[in-house]
Amino acid sequence: MKVIRVSDYTELSRKAADLIAAEIREKPDCVLGLATGSTPEGTYKQLVADYEAGKLDFSRVRTVNLDEYRGLPGSHPQSYRYFMDTHLFSHININKKNTFIPDGLAPEKEECEEYEKRILSLGGIDLQLLGLGRNGHIGFNEPGASFIMETHPVKLTSSTIQANARLFNDPEEVPGRAVTMGIGTIMSAGKILLIVNGEDKAEALRKALYGPVTPSCPASILQDHPALTVIADEEAFREIQACGS
Ligand code: F6R
Repeated sequence: MKVIRVSDYTELSRKAADLIAAEIREKPDCVLGLATGSTPEGTYKQLVADYEAGKLDFSRVRTVNLDEYRGLPGSHPQSYRYFMDTHLFSHININKKNTFIPDGLAPEKEECEEYEKRILSLGGIDLQLLGLGRNGHIGFNEPGASFIMETHPVKLTSSTIQANARLFNDPEEVPGRAVTMGIGTIMSAGKILLIVNGEDKAEALRKALYGPVTPSCPASILQDHPALTVIADEEAFREIQACGS
């Protein structure tokens, strides 16, 4: 595990974008596993800036996203397809046909099987970007999730629904179900990049990096990945300093 400690969110975003850019330069047709949420927004902004400065070419890049809500069309402003289009894909020269996100409206079981096949047909994920849930979730793999699962449907926990409600006009609108890559799918990526910022993630980061590897903290399995890089800011490291790890 390589741990990169940064002072703030801006530095985190710059460093994460640099690692993704390095992957694209090394393998122009790489398969990037991408995440949504507040944490990667700055990273995507940096990647867009690099593209606009003529430093990056996304024309051959393929992407697969971690997850999508059930029941939202891609045109819904809170769908993860919409998020990816507005934060990244619409601003770079990626071929949108090469960007894959589970379809929130397709029949659930078939969509999961198709998504897993899709990842395999692309040759697997070269670099998977991950954010960290306050309860230690990765993707929508909530505490208790099996470490070997592939893409599957999930019922969201009330804590995740509450955390995500801030993004919806009405908290009642937050879907109760989602489709997510499983932890088995995530762990099969060649490299994993976990980005974490803010004090509210401090406990989850401590458990993920230095706690026991247990399904009660899904991200703890990342300790077993052979090519994990973690970039986190001082605030997220607060509990790790406190216990002297
Ligand atoms: C997003 C995802 C989630 C988030 C996590 C952190 O695609 O799968 O696991 O990475 O909930 O979200 P933020 O970054 O909003 O704190």
